[in-house]
Parts: sequence; structure tokens; C-alpha cells
Amino acid sequence: MQFKISVLSLKKSTVLIINDAAQLAKSELLSPLESSFAAAEIKKENKLVSINQYGRHIYICLLPKNDEMHVSEGLRRMGCTVQNLLNKEKANSVFICNKSSESNAAYWLAEGISLASYQFIKYFADAKEKAFSLLNIEFDKASITLKDLNQLSIITESVGIARNLVNEPLNAMSAVELSRQISALGKAAGFKTTVLTKAQIIKEKMGGILAVNRGSIDPPSFSVMEYKPAKTLNKQPIVLVGKGIVYDTGGLSLKPTANSMDRMKSDMSGAALVSAAMYAIAKLQLPLHVIALVPATDNRPGENAYVPGDVIRMYDGTTVEVLNTDAEGRLVLADALHWAKRYKPEMVIDFATLTGAAAAISGSEAMIYMGTAAENTKQSFEKSGAQQYERMVQLPLWPEYGEMIKSDIADLKNIGGAYGGAITAGKFLEHFTAYPWLHFDIAGVSFATAKKNYQSVGGTAFGLRMLLDYLLHYGK
Ligand code: BES
Ligand code: ZN
Ligand code: ZN
Repeated sequence: MQFKISVLSLKKSTVLIINDAAQLAKSELLSPLESSFAAAEIKKENKLVSINQYGRHIYICLLPKNDEMHVSEGLRRMGCTVQNLLNKEKANSVFICNKSSESNAAYWLAEGISLASYQFIKYFADAKEKAFSLLNIEFDKASITLKDLNQLSIITESVGIARNLVNEPLNAMSAVELSRQISALGKAAGFKTTVLTKAQIIKEKMGGILAVNRGSIDPPSFSVMEYKPAKTLNKQPIVLVGKGIVYDTGGLSLKPTANSMDRMKSDMSGAALVSAAMYAIAKLQLPLHVIALVPATDNRPGENAYVPGDVIRMYDGTTVEVLNTDAEGRLVLADALHWAKRYKPEMVIDFATLTGAAAAISGSEAMIYMGTAAENTKQSFEKSGAQQYERMVQLPLWPEYGEMIKSDIADLKNIGGAYGGAITAGKFLEHFTAYPWLHFDIAGVSFATAKKNYQSVGGTAFGLRMLLDYLLHYGK
């Protein structure tokens, strides 16, 4: 989607006017008759009134105000409705004029339009015909600032990047290919990427990543991204970590195929999220020193695969009894969390499609999170989550859950009991941290099987706008 500030002229064929209810849709673009028609429609609770002036189509969007949802989310969803309508009309551009009392209204409406415009159609023979017609959003200069326009453009672009990375299947996105794409993002946006090859991962003795990789014929990768502008608000880096399991078959503890393994190309959603976040951070030139780590491999039951019962030695020296090869995410993340200690980070934030148990708690409506970061940090994250409508629910890290991952023959085992699986997974990760830390389990939200408002089928990038919102407000 292209965004620009422009001047409303007669040539603009599709115009969206955002109005308060009270103003009853008065505009210099409407005749008195059209205005009273719009007013009558609005009284009938019609929130989106369409007026066809032959050469020009005018839509009046009423600020969606209700108690259950903030107006920002109402406008994003209205943007999705508008996007749908305009593509049916084969419109190429839309001009947005905000006449309402809500100064951010144009931003949110355009955000909804842009997020709804995402498509993953490259594998269709008739991709050209399938492509949406609406490619441009214009604003008058009273409706958005240049800074906000730039921010909106970068954030919605990064959402598309994260969704693309998730939607690519394993046969197009091996662990090494993921690291290549990450390097390409770094080149495009202006952050540095270093990729550890299998030989280097062996040399480092990253036992968690190597154990998971044993059943695969494809090598693992470990990507380190760094963005460090001249002036930064943080003294010590913020480190992001993303689970990069490019495919999770479960390994020898094989997943059942139906309804379970089929979406496991998305098990690198955490990696996609942090990589796209780095892209946005660098493009937005945030005054922050940020590092992102992506441990990546597929998890397969090949002939040399790790087996239930194996005891492995992790990067930090901890021994782990592997009782289920499908609990692989925590093994690769643990090595990355240990690596993060070298930076003496101010905070480490990981994103991972870690447990079905997290999905069982909140479904696709919220992420599960937990961690040792300060209370006010958690509150800032919750606020960003609410503002972006990417909400989160916190779980505790009580020591009793730590008891559940003690092994009879090693320091830890990689599964807990039958219940509390999202927390025992978190406790496992906590063992490898030595800094303020937050863990987001995005298993329930990262991949959608049906379109929901402006969220497309497939990768959702859920959590990315929340994270960027947090970083944009950092220190404020
Ligand atoms: N990648 C899965 C978790 C997952 C499940 C993500 C559903 C997205 C949707 C993870 O590696 C896994 O298999 N976890 C196991 C852990 C168990 C064996 C302790 C799970 O949740 O069943
Ligand atoms: Zn698994
Ligand atoms: Zn997994």
C-alpha cells in the first residue's frame, strides 16, 4: 500500500469522510439533499453510508463508538469493511478526510485498510487477477502528519513481511533460507546481520539447537541481528529472541497429521515477528539499541534424530533429559537465551509458538505472557497490547512449576506434567535467563485458518504491532 498526503480535488473518485455522529455528515462535498440522506441513514445506525455521485463515490464513516471496544479498533475494522467494498468497485485509490473530533481517526482507518489488503497469492497461476485493486491511500494534510504517515507505512509493511515469512512453506523456507531472508531484511532496512553456520553452532556447543537438528538433513542456522544508532535511549541493549522452528513434525514424538502438523510451517512465527520488528525498528530509526536472535532448524524424525530419553548438554552446560522430542522450541530458545547474556541486556523479550497449552487458554484472542521484567514494564506492554488490540494474559512463574521439570537423572527435563504446560515451558526458559525477561507464547494467535476482520488467513503477525508500539513509546 502506498500512502501520501495530497489535496482533495474533483478528480478524486473515491473519498472517505470520517465524521462524528453529532455532526451528521455535513461536508462541502455533499449537496443539502445528500447530507440529509446521510443523516437519515446514520440515524438508522448505518455506520458507513455510501453516496454515489456518478463520477465520484463518497463514503461517510461514522466514528464507531461503543463501550466494548476502543474507537481505534472500531476504525481498523471499518477499514477492513471499506477495503472489501472498494476492491469490489475496482477502486485503485481512496482519499481520506477526517472531519471527526478524533485526531487519529484517519491513521486507524487507513491501518485497517492496509492490514486487510495483505495477500499471499504468489503461488497462484492467476495471481494478477486475484490481486486487490486498491493500492493507494491519500490523505488531506489536516488528517495525518507526515511522521504518522511514515510510521503507518513502515509498520504495515513490516506486518506484511512477518506474514510472508510465516506463509512460506518449508520447501521454500529452510533454516538457512530463513537466515538469508533475515540478512536481506537487514540490508534493506539498515541493520547488521551475522549468521552462524552449522559448523559454528557445533563449535559453540549449542546443544539444544543441535539436538533438535539431528533428525534433519538440512543444517540449522543462528541469526544475530543488531541495530545500533548513534544516539540511544537505552544504555544496554534490548534483546529480542524468536523461535525459528521452520517446521515442527514433533520429531520421533511425531505429531498426528490432521489438524496438528499441517500448520507447523508457522512454528517460526516468533522468528518472523522479531525479524520484521528489526526491519521496522531500523526503518523508523528508533533511538534504541536492539539485538534480535533467531535459532532456526526444522524438527524431524530422521534416522539420527534425538530420541525420548536422551540426555543432552545445553549451550550453558545444563543437562536436559528429553522426554518428548515435540517440546523442541524450549531447547533451541534456551541456547539463544544463554547467548543473550553476553550483552548484559537491559531486557530480553522472546516470542515463540511454544505450547498448545497456551492456545488452549486464550484461543486466538490473546497471547500468553510471563516473565521476570519489572511490573511497570509489564504494564507498558499490556497498554501497548490494548492499544493495538493484540492483547495478552499473564501467567505466574511460581517455583512449584519449576519442581515439575526436575529430572531424575539430569538437571532438567523438557516436559512438565499433564497440566500447566504453558507455565512449565516458561519455567524451563527462565532457567536460562539472568536478566529482566518476558516470554510471549503466541501459539494460539500466530496462524489463522479463517479471515477475521483485517487479519488474513495464514500468518497473522499478531504481537508485532504491540511490540513496535511498546518500543515507539520507550522511555516516554
Ligand atoms: N510448536 C508446538 C506448539 C504449538 C501447538 C504451536 C499448536 C502452534 C499451535 C510445540 O513445539 C509443541 O509441540 N509443544 C508441545 C509441548 C508438549 C510436548 C510438552 C505441545 O504443546 O503439545
Ligand atoms: Zn513441537
Ligand atoms: Zn514447535
